[in-house]
Amino acid sequence: MSSTDKPLVGVMMGSKSDWEVMKHTHDMLDKFGVPHECRVLSAHRTPEATTEFTMSAASRGIEVLIAAAGGAAHLAGVVAAQTLLPVLGVPMQSASLQGLDSLLSIVQMPAGIPVGTLAIGKPGAINSALLAIRILAATRPELREKLKAYHAEQAAAVLKETLP
Ligand code: RP5
Repeated sequence: MSSTDKPLVGVMMGSKSDWEVMKHTHDMLDKFGVPHECRVLSAHRTPEATTEFTMSAASRGIEVLIAAAGGAAHLAGVVAAQTLLPVLGVPMQSASLQGLDSLLSIVQMPAGIPVGTLAIGKPGAINSALLAIRILAATRPELREKLKAYHAEQAAAVLKETLP
């Protein structure tokens, strides 16, 4: 698998202003060599294009969708309503309510339409990629090996820390 193959993960974000944070999702998917595509698509500003992207995703080979939005963050829910693919939602840190609005908008889905909701901002962006990779790794031993190595590296780095 190379990061230039047909995309396995679709990363959507409600605005270009989300990219600074969502670049961390892109970087982590790249680190694991997971082919993906990133698009600005809004539940409110581009509803038809959002539906088109979502409804064609599975037939284009995409296996996981990640949707980031801030404020009245309806993107992940709207996407999850239109596909059977797993949808991961990343709440963006909004200016007025620091992302609590985004978090609640994404996490409070009605029973029947699931969205896997991550943490607000950068940790959520990074973990959305790692969770997508774990989903893909269920059927891809090479990704499982990469995840093992990643966790070992992370643990080694923590154990090497010294305090002043
Ligand atoms: C949401 O509104 C976007 O996901 C973004 O987080 C927020 C603000 O968007 P802009 O006004 O910066 O385009 O739809």
